[in-house]
Amino acid sequence: TTLFDRVFKGSDEMYDVAVKALEEASAKYPDSEPIAFPDTAYYLACIYAMTGQKITNLGELKSIMNWIKGQMGRRKKTHDIFTSGVATACAAEVIEACKYIQNKDPYGHDPLWGHCTDAEVRELGLPLVTGDIPGFAVIIGPAPSNEEALSLVKNYQGKSMFVFMVGGIIDQVKALGMNTGFNVRVVPLGYDLWSVSHVVSVAIRAAMIFGAVQPGDYDGIRKYTFERVNAVINAFDPVDDMTVACGAGAISLGFPVITNHVDELWKVPKSLIIQEDTTKFVDTSLEARGIKIKVTNVDIPVAYSNAFEGEIIRRGDMQFEADGSRVDCLELVRTREAHEVEDHKIEVIGPDFDSFEVGSKVQLAMIVDVAGRKMNSDFEPVFERKFHAYLNCIEGVMHTGQRDMIRIRVSKDTFAAGFRAKHFGEVLYAKVKGEFDTVVDKCQVTIITDPAAATEMRKVANEIYDKRDERLLSLTDENVKEFYTCIMCQSFSPSHVCIVTPERLGLCGAVSWLDAKATHELDETGPCQIVPKTGVIDENIGKWESVNDAVRKYSQGALEIVSLYSIMEDPMTSCGCFECICGIEPFSNGVVIVNREHPGMTPLGMSFSEMASMTGGGVQTPGFMGHGKHFIASKKFMKAEGGVARIVWMPKALKEQVAEKLNATAQELYGIENFTDMIADETVTDDPEKLLEFLGEKGHPVLGLDPLM
Ligand code: SF4
Ligand code: NI
Ligand code: NI
Repeated sequence: TTLFDRVFKGSDEMYDVAVKALEEASAKYPDSEPIAFPDTAYYLACIYAMTGQKITNLGELKSIMNWIKGQMGRRKKTHDIFTSGVATACAAEVIEACKYIQNKDPYGHDPLWGHCTDAEVRELGLPLVTGDIPGFAVIIGPAPSNEEALSLVKNYQGKSMFVFMVGGIIDQVKALGMNTGFNVRVVPLGYDLWSVSHVVSVAIRAAMIFGAVQPGDYDGIRKYTFERVNAVINAFDPVDDMTVACGAGAISLGFPVITNHVDELWKVPKSLIIQEDTTKFVDTSLEARGIKIKVTNVDIPVAYSNAFEGEIIRRGDMQFEADGSRVDCLELVRTREAHEVEDHKIEVIGPDFDSFEVGSKVQLAMIVDVAGRKMNSDFEPVFERKFHAYLNCIEGVMHTGQRDMIRIRVSKDTFAAGFRAKHFGEVLYAKVKGEFDTVVDKCQVTIITDPAAATEMRKVANEIYDKRDERLLSLTDENVKEFYTCIMCQSFSPSHVCIVTPERLGLCGAVSWLDAKATHELDETGPCQIVPKTGVIDENIGKWESVNDAVRKYSQGALEIVSLYSIMEDPMTSCGCFECICGIEPFSNGVVIVNREHPGMTPLGMSFSEMASMTGGGVQTPGFMGHGKHFIASKKFMKAEGGVARIVWMPKALKEQVAEKLNATAQELYGIENFTDMIADETVTDDPEKLLEFLGEKGHPVLGLDPLM
């Protein structure tokens, strides 16, 4: 048989399974039965992207089968292999969709995952653009042995690749005790081959979310995934016809397939690659897709990878915990004179981890002293805030918080592997030196575990934090001479430009004005360029000629005018990785803000996913705006429309996170105390009429403002 025969046969088989699944569903449910994957605004994303059709019920699902069949051409031409392959993925999506009739979570997420939500896809945006996730590996297996399965997955994980598993490999890694889940970037999709459609859906949604490719633009979607989504497929022998057909679909989207299945008639250069030595799968895959891995060589006894950033360590699994809310803990970066710093000196003051009782709360202070001719004390908080990511990447270490309110857990396994105090120093040294080498000539780290010394150091640190806060308060949009661009997200969202100001951070929440400034000084030709604050057009709306020039230039002409303080008039664009989305609530003339973590409805009758889908891809959408959490309490938030007084609804958890600062802002702007009490949340209502009643009862200031539209 030829490759053609196998693809055609495999796609027929998948089609037949889909027919059967539909027959079974039809026996139980009417055509009007609703069908949807949970928490997505992109319907059945593969089908939606390729056809533009919004499948919402069983009847519509049945009628799409004609299109699928029509794509399964049978001429012995590459074209027909590709369309058959994509149609195979769509047929797989039909089968999967049937599982979600009347069941929001047929896989149970323990460990099988199935569908990934829009919020999960969006969460990947930032790490993908920074290269913290260099790409995706989809493994279809079983591997020849459990050990080989584990070593392959761990190898990818160690390189921070995001791994999706389909089939027998799932039980293989489970048998060896591997921890899986979205948070550790190893996601078991499902045992059946058709569950692979869920990862195709992730890649395809990236095109619609970040790239603003229109649903139904078949070639545009393929072009986007081909150029921008770094994915590879690894398929273990024996590879059946259906897998070959899915592989053809993958290749058509630009994803090479690597297999150890030997068959002379195969091999498509650069796309279908035979690698008999399965231990070389990772290298072969990365090379085939041209994926570059950022390496951090740190001398520690456990793994170090971005994949561990979201790892959770439960109380029962922890050896000890440094808890800044109970004992003296802190992290601090200080600029020193060159002669005061000895490069790579790591000093531990106090007892090492062996002397801590299991489960105890211990003091821990980490001080990084740096020296460099181009070092600027404004960079200190920029480096320091990165400790969170640096330490989280250690396998078996969990870090939350900042400054003297940190909490760090070290797992029993990591302690048993020999992880000790000095290793925190090694990690901080390697990362600070590696990432900021243009300004850091020398770096030394002090780790304090001695209670008295930690208490003493906390006093010193608090004075430094206070000084920094003063400096931050003085940083207003009025007080600086320049803003910055950030175009980091253009690798996914080609025309998106963030303008970062002291009072408006990047919408991802990760780039403040100081971050942008530091990024610029570290790399003068990099993503953050200076925008001089010149040619004011309207300071209330936030319009400057220089800002317009910058967006025009850096969006390659896609964008002409941007206002920094308005949601209605030429608002800033969104790339898709925003922390929050804000949208107009027409009854109250206010706005609703919802963060990515919130799964429920809003008074707009839309969830986060649905609101988020209203904007993105670097397109201006008046009435909707993506933004960072910290922007909510800013005096520049919707300044043109009256400021934070427009906020009428937020999820409770988000409200609590921003309450202190938001209340201070409302106090300052309007003399209102405890403003957040006037803002409704999901425990109050998600109904627009009730919302209006609530606002009336509370005397919310929005009711006295001009109509928005
Ligand atoms: Fe992307 Fe804007 Fe964040 Fe830069 S600041 S990484 S462009 S969202
Ligand atoms: Ni960790
Ligand atoms: Ni982005």
